[in-house]
Amino acid sequence: MPCEVAARFLILYGSQHGQAQSIAEEICQQAAEHGFTADISCLSNQHKYNVDHEIRPVVFVVSTTGDGDPPDTAQKFVRKIKNKSLAHDHFSHLRYALLALGDTNYANFCNGGKTIDSRLQQLGAKHFYATGHADDGTGLEVVVDPWIEGLWDALKKMFSNCTQDNYHKNASGQEKNKSDLEVDLHLLKLSEVDSQKGKTITSDSSDVETLFTALVASLKQSVPPLSESVLNVPALPASYLEVHLEQGSTERVSISKAVQCTQDDAVKTAILLELDISEQNIAYQPGDAFDILCPNRASEVEELLLRLDLQTQKNCAVQVNLLKNSTAKVPLHIPQNGSLQFILTWCLEIRSAPKKAFVRALADFTQNGSEKRRLLELCSKEGSADYNSFVRDANVCLLDLLRAFPSCLPPLSLLFEHLPKLQPRAYSAASSSLQHPGKVNFVFNVVEFPARPEHPARTGLCTGWLADHVSSILPRPSSTFHLPADLSIPVVMVGPGTGVAPFIGFLEQREKEREANQEATFGETWLFFGCRHKDKDFLFREELERFAHNGTLSHLIVCFSRDEPDAAGTVNSPTYVQHNLRLHAKNVASILLKDKGCLYVCGDGKNMAKDVNDTLLEIIGNKLQIDILDAMKIVAGLREEKRYLQDIWS
Ligand code: 2AM
Repeated sequence: MPCEVAARFLILYGSQHGQAQSIAEEICQQAAEHGFTADISCLSNQHKYNVDHEIRPVVFVVSTTGDGDPPDTAQKFVRKIKNKSLAHDHFSHLRYALLALGDTNYANFCNGGKTIDSRLQQLGAKHFYATGHADDGTGLEVVVDPWIEGLWDALKKMFSNCTQDNYHKNASGQEKNKSDLEVDLHLLKLSEVDSQKGKTITSDSSDVETLFTALVASLKQSVPPLSESVLNVPALPASYLEVHLEQGSTERVSISKAVQCTQDDAVKTAILLELDISEQNIAYQPGDAFDILCPNRASEVEELLLRLDLQTQKNCAVQVNLLKNSTAKVPLHIPQNGSLQFILTWCLEIRSAPKKAFVRALADFTQNGSEKRRLLELCSKEGSADYNSFVRDANVCLLDLLRAFPSCLPPLSLLFEHLPKLQPRAYSAASSSLQHPGKVNFVFNVVEFPARPEHPARTGLCTGWLADHVSSILPRPSSTFHLPADLSIPVVMVGPGTGVAPFIGFLEQREKEREANQEATFGETWLFFGCRHKDKDFLFREELERFAHNGTLSHLIVCFSRDEPDAAGTVNSPTYVQHNLRLHAKNVASILLKDKGCLYVCGDGKNMAKDVNDTLLEIIGNKLQIDILDAMKIVAGLREEKRYLQDIWS
């Protein structure tokens, strides 16, 4: 039977940091181009869908967190489907596809998605399209893009196979408005907001509430910036920042120190910030991470407002309403009645590379014919390589596109629809509270993007901003990246560059523990550190030398990747931490295999952590005289026992 209305399906996503959500939204946006209507919901919004009676095909996009756990937003759903009292054919009506996200740098790859997938199968649900497993370690898009591409054919087949057009309607049988993602904005003067209350659509997210309380408070108190000379001044007069402790409570903490740890001529600039958290009662362990929430650059927000002709309305309160008959949702990260400037500053990731669907939508608001054609070309199937090099790889953001296409004038609703939520960035504590009571330290490299034809030179949003101001930090749930409680267990730490941060915390803790427990037996502590130049970016050199000198560190093994050959003319070797690991293979193997010790790796996950992992396989393979597959099993066992832990980023 031919379809009378658009073929309809449901997308359910379980996201931890927003990646699964943004992929799910991408699928939702592309659906219309392929003749489908998609409804979308987070798995945590259980009142918005019911898989027990779902007649539409369902597309799940599920990420993985922790040690192979489903994301927090999917926990309830997983508990529900794992209920032992469910009949073996409970989901026999369900047709679904699943895209699982994971990272091969961590144990239990894609296990969040796999858990849901296997349970649904067990209870009789059927795939209409093979499950995809995307690896953040090598780039999610390698699997995600072709998986989405293949989804449309699978859905078409699915719908043409069904004899009844049940699938083509939603529960109420209503056709979905094709343009239902459009939002209607009302700019009100702030004084009018109160009287308008009640008429606004309230988004039901406690997320917004939580975020907004912290953000509003931080704006109200207008956080003073650090002085211009911050980078070279060892101690600063206190500046303030917001610490969001738990739902609804926001507190101020001061920055007690900001120090540049690298020389001016080092390739990267590393900065250490010490925050005073003595009033806040935040308990953390070395190895724990904090979420830092930073606003978009004021100059970029101003330019955006100017470019969109909204300069004079920046202090107006914004209401987001849905068009009549629309089944779309107001994006949860846009608080009702926030000022326009506030929303652009604190809620939207204006630096993100516009997705193809956004570029396509921008073309609709571009007057000039050749500019419009170029935008359409960029988001066409044929223009994929072009899009990658012009937009994605060039770190192009909305403002860059607006500069390059002067006749493009999108309405605000388009920005609200397409710009993702501004995400907090995670940083590991580089201190122990035993050594610095009431303080927490962070160390980070200021990320720099060189100038390109598409945009001027600029620093990374968070690191660049941290160097100027600090605002909200949110303690993360405590991690497993901790020292073993048993002091006699030996540990090997691998942390080149700013990857050394958590180990400074570890060692500070060990130093104090040694002072307090003179009689105790302490296991060996090995640190493999690497940087480019001994005299320019040897982070925490003084502290590390002190630890080595007083026995806190039994072995400090350092390498320099870019120092000239020494006076004797010998080539500077080894250059990388893994080369040193190889040189000390015997000790490393014995610590891990014989003494039940722990290995910690922190830093760059794209190259370093992979190379270190390969070296570990080689060390274990050689030691036990086994092949690589068996060595992989041993390494997997170490991960399982939490004796091989990673804190890595890309
Ligand atoms: P490089 O930048 O000179 O290549 C901290 O960033 C240190 O890690 C630097 O000395 C950097 O060297 C080095 N590094 C870069 N890639 C690495 C890799 N794959 N494995 C180990 N260390 C690496």
